[in-house]
Amino acid sequence: MRAIRLAVAGLGTVGSETVRLLRSRRESLARRLGARLELAAVCDRRAAAAARRLGLPASVRRLTDPGRLPSLPGIDAVVELLGGLEAPRRLVLASLRRGLGVVTANKRLLAHGWDELREAAARGQARLHFEASVAGGIPILKALELGLAGDRVEAIYGILNGTTNFILTRMSEGMPAAAALRRAQELGLAEKDPALDLSGRDAADKVSVLASLVSGSWLRPDQVRVQGLEGVSLEDTAFARSALGRRVKLLGVARFTGAELRVEAFVSPALVPLEHPLAAVSDEFNAVLVRAASAGDLMFYGKGAGAGPAASAVLGDVLALGRELLTGTAPAAPRPGPALRLADSDCAFYLRLAALDRPGVLSSVTAALGRLGISIATINQPAGWDPRGVPIIITTHPTSPGTFGRALRSILALPAVSRRHTVMRLLP
Ligand code: HSE
Repeated sequence: MRAIRLAVAGLGTVGSETVRLLRSRRESLARRLGARLELAAVCDRRAAAAARRLGLPASVRRLTDPGRLPSLPGIDAVVELLGGLEAPRRLVLASLRRGLGVVTANKRLLAHGWDELREAAARGQARLHFEASVAGGIPILKALELGLAGDRVEAIYGILNGTTNFILTRMSEGMPAAAALRRAQELGLAEKDPALDLSGRDAADKVSVLASLVSGSWLRPDQVRVQGLEGVSLEDTAFARSALGRRVKLLGVARFTGAELRVEAFVSPALVPLEHPLAAVSDEFNAVLVRAASAGDLMFYGKGAGAGPAASAVLGDVLALGRELLTGTAPAAPRPGPALRLADSDCAFYLRLAALDRPGVLSSVTAALGRLGISIATINQPAGWDPRGVPIIITTHPTSPGTFGRALRSILALPAVSRRHTVMRLLP
């Protein structure tokens, strides 16, 4: 039986679990692939200790410098699970350019280097797989790339960050955000720098990968409008539920408008109707709702982080890569596509302000909205929330995000209105 020889770089939690599963499922994987998956080398700063811990035989090479992997003789594919950005980037680019297949779980690498990775894969006639980079164990990239290959994806709505979904779930039960974040960190969900989770930038990287895969053209993370959880308070989550019949979710959205390669992409706290399938996604779970022209709405749900889910996705990629290497069927990644154009579409907004309780304040706020043609759907002034000013909570009818932004700037310039405010989108 032919062997596919793998090198695994990075033996942290995901790398260790991948190696463990490669070994414990050796026979069933070989049956499925029609070839043996042979672990030829591992690379880690503490490779010897990690190899000992994993009980690897002496035939598996131990390396500490990932730079040496691409030139190791007899390797067919590199599994990159190093973490960080620069070392993985160098390893993946060098491997692809040499024609080695690559599997990576690194979302930041993909999101920030999409075009150069495609270029390198095209140059080396090499294959690159990255299922674990988005939504962990959910095989969403394969669903988009293979299952929906004959369809036209119109939109993707995702809960793509487990940490913030966990925090919002705890907040909806009354736990303050800071305590919920500490709990998410204890559970190993959060990024090393949790600001990436809270600011929405982690979710934006995932939106970038999803949108680039669907459109074939790179949507850079800086083209995704990003708003994080920072302004969302316990009161917002409670009010959303009791007065609006909605739950707060941090959504990553990409909407495509077809042939012109126009895309609307944003990450934002959003108020989701309680009966919407995304409202039922709680704790650290991820979910992706795909709207396709022919298939209609499809919902993918599962764990977006953790050693088991990520290793499952990595192994799926290893098998896909193995099949391609054995049969020579899949072409290398296409060269970078034409530039995407950014679009905006109308949306209803939630706005919470803090204002002085004085005659005329409310009318100056509503006038600022009315001047720009923004129609108010609901308005509330709940008592006793914030000693620094009365809360004014407004929801609007759909309006363009640009117009809403202009109205907001003029409202925040009013002397009786505090700069502290919260904006969320309302999902229809
Ligand atoms: N910090 C990320 C999350 C890990 O919370 O979803 C998975 O990408």
